[in-house]
Amino acid sequence: MLVPKSDFVGLEGVVHLVAGGETPMLQRHAAAYARFAADKATGLPGRVLFEEARGRVRQRLASMLGMQPGDIALVGSSSEAIGQVISSIAWQPGDNVVVAEHEFPSGLFALARLRDLGVELRLIAPRDHYLEVDDLIERCDGRTRLVYVSHVSFRTGQRVDVARLADGIHARGGALLLDATHALGVVPVPGDLCDFVVCSGYKWLLATHQGILAWNRRRQPDLRPLGVGWRSGDEASDPAAIYALHADATRVEVGNPNHLDVYILESALDYLAEVGIDRIAAYVLDLGGRLRTGLVALGLQVTTPESAAERAGNICFAHPRSVQLAERALARGMQIWGGDGRMRLSVHLYVTQQDVDDVLAALPGLLAEVEG
Ligand SMILES: Cc1ncc(COP(=O)(O)O)c(C=O)c1O
Repeated sequence: MLVPKSDFVGLEGVVHLVAGGETPMLQRHAAAYARFAADKATGLPGRVLFEEARGRVRQRLASMLGMQPGDIALVGSSSEAIGQVISSIAWQPGDNVVVAEHEFPSGLFALARLRDLGVELRLIAPRDHYLEVDDLIERCDGRTRLVYVSHVSFRTGQRVDVARLADGIHARGGALLLDATHALGVVPVPGDLCDFVVCSGYKWLLATHQGILAWNRRRQPDLRPLGVGWRSGDEASDPAAIYALHADATRVEVGNPNHLDVYILESALDYLAEVGIDRIAAYVLDLGGRLRTGLVALGLQVTTPESAAERAGNICFAHPRSVQLAERALARGMQIWGGDGRMRLSVHLYVTQQDVDDVLAALPGLLAEVEG
């Protein structure tokens, strides 16, 4: 056990393996609500406090990603962040984008939408559920503008080698948009190697529903999203220009971030920092490895790679009746994610060896129920 389940609301006695969907609520978030309520209650001075909280969160996120606080924007969702990045590129017919067929829909759909602008969508087929980084790189050429890749797959749990990926894409002149939603909070994420990083708050980061956009200003000095609002800039000195974008990533924040979510994110990041990402990663890779071995021993078609370097917290196996299997598991008090033809068992810092043993012991019976 890395942390006590009592750090979370209602987690004791629950086998919670759905961090890839929704993590439980930290007890300490109640104090974050209360702080927000007290700050809001002060009226105008509260707005200064909101910005101070946002500044601390940007600092923490920047240090987790190896980036600078000014690179970080807080937006409504990671899907919205993807849209802001895509909207900032002046697409020309004949440009292309590269994405794996089994990628998360928000990136896949957003890139597919570009076909209406004459942009070629280059889809990479996984090989037996495994994404070969070289397959992605080889499809990049002089007209590749953007490659969208999840650091850790929501579907298979595979963790890609970001350094190799970024090198290959950059050597061909493309930009890497990394989705760190299943990575940040559980394994180190080298954001500084990417052009853009997006992440959601409500999964491995243990916070609530907001998005993070990290813009690597060293690699991409200009970012001109189509979404622009009062918060993105100031009035321009030249009246004809109307507005001048802020120099930092605040330019993608069209309006106020949801400040309550920012307070909760700060509370979550404090907690993660107290435990330490390296300790979390070591714990999760060890326990996840044992879970994976148990699933293989049950004869299941495990799609998550064996090597610790190629996985994080999501351990997945293909199953045609995954929705029914998840329902049966839930009826026995075990939360497991089922859907998209696979089961996903997510190991985060609050999951125990006992949880893993319990689920491995229950699975043969559950499988017999849905297969029988
Ligand atoms: C990889 C990935 N990216 C993005 C999202 C969506 O996040 P949001 O609701 O913040 O857009 C998810 C949700 O499951 C996800 O798995």
